[in-house]
Parts: sequence; structure tokens; C-alpha cells
Amino acid sequence: MKRAIRVTVNRTEHVLSVEPCETLLDLLRNHLNLTGAKLGCDQQVCGACTVLLDGLPVSSCTVLAVDVDARQVLSIEGLAEGQELHPIQHAFLRHSAFQCAYCTPGMIMAIKALQDQVPRANDDQIRHFLAGNICRCGCHVEILEVARAILGTPSTPPREVLP
Ligand code: FES
Ligand code: FES
Repeated sequence: MKRAIRVTVNRTEHVLSVEPCETLLDLLRNHLNLTGAKLGCDQQVCGACTVLLDGLPVSSCTVLAVDVDARQVLSIEGLAEGQELHPIQHAFLRHSAFQCAYCTPGMIMAIKALQDQVPRANDDQIRHFLAGNICRCGCHVEILEVARAILGTPSTPPREVLP
């Protein structure tokens, strides 16, 4: 049986009727036509569906829509200010940190959460924070550069390889 929920998405409040089995990703894509967050693994492994829920990053494929009642969601569509892209979006363009871009919205939202929570993150913290976001095109080096640029983190020299 459907349930009514009231949720704020990208600063706009919505009253929606959702099925108990629907996820937050379904809510965004099917109810609100916000298709930036992507379905990849559907089991909280790849991070393609990452959005912020009350400011914290979540895999929207594994959050039930009924559980976002009275909560705040920020998706990639809510990041830009009007026509002006967010600095993280600009940094992705500047560093060419994507190929197919399927992972990009989730990566951007994860870096946004990192910026909010650990604004002076070091290299290891960046790597740890982004471990749940996978880029199948292999752009991790460029994505790491984006995170470093946004957080002002100096690059760590490659670890020495033992003989
Ligand atoms: S689709 Fe949600 S984590 Fe992969
Ligand atoms: S750019 Fe293709 S999956 Fe990351």
C-alpha cells in the first residue's frame, strides 16, 4: 500500500505517494525526473547513485523512499547555483576527470560530502572517503586530482616500491 511522504529535494518540498519497496533512487528518477544519480550495482557497492541525505552521503539504491520522510535530499541537480556550476563540477571539467561520466554525479556528491565534513582532508582520507565510488573507465587518478584541488591537499609522492 502506498504511503504519503513529505521530502525536501534540492531545497524544494514535495509531497509524494510511494510504494514501500521503492528506493530513494526510484523517488528521484521516477517521481521527480531527476536522473543525475545513476543505477549501477543496485547493492551499495559502486557509488553511482550517491546523493546527500541530511548532508551525509548515501547510496540511494539502498535507502527506502519511505525512510526519507521529513528529510532533506541534495542530488547533483541541486548543486549548481542557477547557471553557475559548483566548483567541484568546474574542477571535473578542468581535470577531464571522466570518460563516459556514468560515475561522475556520484563522485561529485561524494567529494561534496568530503568537503563539507573533512575540509582539510589529507590524501589518505580522500582515498578512504572515495573508496565506495568506482569508476569503470579508470579515471581515478584524475578524480583524485579533483578532490585534492578542491580541498587544497598536496599530492603525496608515490610510495616507494620495495626491491
Ligand atoms: S547503484 Fe547504488 S551503490 Fe551502485
Ligand atoms: S567516467 Fe565512466 S565510469 Fe567513471
